[in-house]
Amino acid sequence: MSKLQSVRGMQDVLPGDSARWRWVEDRVADVLDRFGYRQIRMPLLEDTRLFARGVGETSDIVEKEMYTFDDRGGDSVTLRPEGTAGCVRVCEQHGLLYNQTQRLWYRGPMFRYERPQKGRYRQFEQIGVECFGLAGPDIDFELLQLTAELWRVLGVDQAVRLELNTLGTSEARSAWRGALVDYLRPFEAELDEDSRRRLERNPLRIFDSKVERTREIIAGAPTFDHWLDADSRAHFEHLQERLAGAGIAAVINPMLVRGLDYYSRTVFEWTTEALGAQGTVCGGGRYDGLVELLGGRPTPGIGFAMGIDRLLLLAQACASLPEDIDRAVDAYLVPMEDAASGAAFELAGHLRSALPRLRVQVHCGGGKVKARMKR
Ligand code: HAM
Repeated sequence: MSKLQSVRGMQDVLPGDSARWRWVEDRVADVLDRFGYRQIRMPLLEDTRLFARGVGETSDIVEKEMYTFDDRGGDSVTLRPEGTAGCVRVCEQHGLLYNQTQRLWYRGPMFRYERPQKGRYRQFEQIGVECFGLAGPDIDFELLQLTAELWRVLGVDQAVRLELNTLGTSEARSAWRGALVDYLRPFEAELDEDSRRRLERNPLRIFDSKVERTREIIAGAPTFDHWLDADSRAHFEHLQERLAGAGIAAVINPMLVRGLDYYSRTVFEWTTEALGAQGTVCGGGRYDGLVELLGGRPTPGIGFAMGIDRLLLLAQACASLPEDIDRAVDAYLVPMEDAASGAAFELAGHLRSALPRLRVQVHCGGGKVKARMKR
């Protein structure tokens, strides 16, 4: 029988690397604590309809990237491709949105059947944040301030930049969508295959195309600015003023549309040039219609998620991880003979209580003194 291997796109994190993962995750969790966000833990498996409805039938994720199967009872379930829809489901199911605001975070693996490459995997780790019940631009600012603080703590702030856009209300967007289709129709034959398909189903996503001719065509398309509603415009301007006041630089990118269908108003991405093609380390935005779409009362929402795999690569590229990070122990107690082993374990116990941060290990496995010392 041939040797069994990990499934394509799924990574093993070995002992040396897991210390690096912990370093990133602990620092992020610490910042979230300091901002008063509370963690929730969600299942990896959800009813498939949650994502079809929540993330959107026309998104790449739902169209072609989900790990979906029927369980033994014949119900269609999906390994979560992202956390926002599940978070809304949790909040609704447990009444967390009624007459209250929420600032939540979660972490864990997400699954997407994408073409694997550096920084893009089929199982990857996200830390995500979701806030509910807050409609004004102050929370948009808070989230961007929080992410800026994360980059500072992780030592990658010089390597990332913030891209920002507004997608307005769904009414404004659909008016724009009509104009966009009218503009693109005459170019239909020249568009790449994905974009031709999107022309019918989700024309805004054509802005994401990486194909040169499509990008040339889309560069001449009518911009959203003309259709943007006054409230969304004021919301966006207020956010930009706050960011400028706080010294958080942002590049306005009218082409930024995001790949999931639930966004409205503010959308943003933190990108880097240090990682090649997979340069988005964090993405998010407002989704004011999602709770209602999933069966709840109208409730504003906003959040983001960052890819921990990519953040770790970035922290390594920026050399911000401590050098001795994969050293497992600070003190190794070697009893010179087996009879002293009990005393060594006792001493290790005392050391661990007296110095809680010291990593202490006792030699196990016997052997000659020389071999023990070598170990
Ligand atoms: P997303 O843009 O699909 O948004 O993913 C967020 C981040 O997860 C990306 O910026 C990237 O760093 C990381 N990521 C995505 N796919 C992969 C992959 N295949 N391999 C490695 N890393 C990946 C969401 O998931 C939304 N739920 C974010 C959000 C929360 N919006 C509002 N609230």
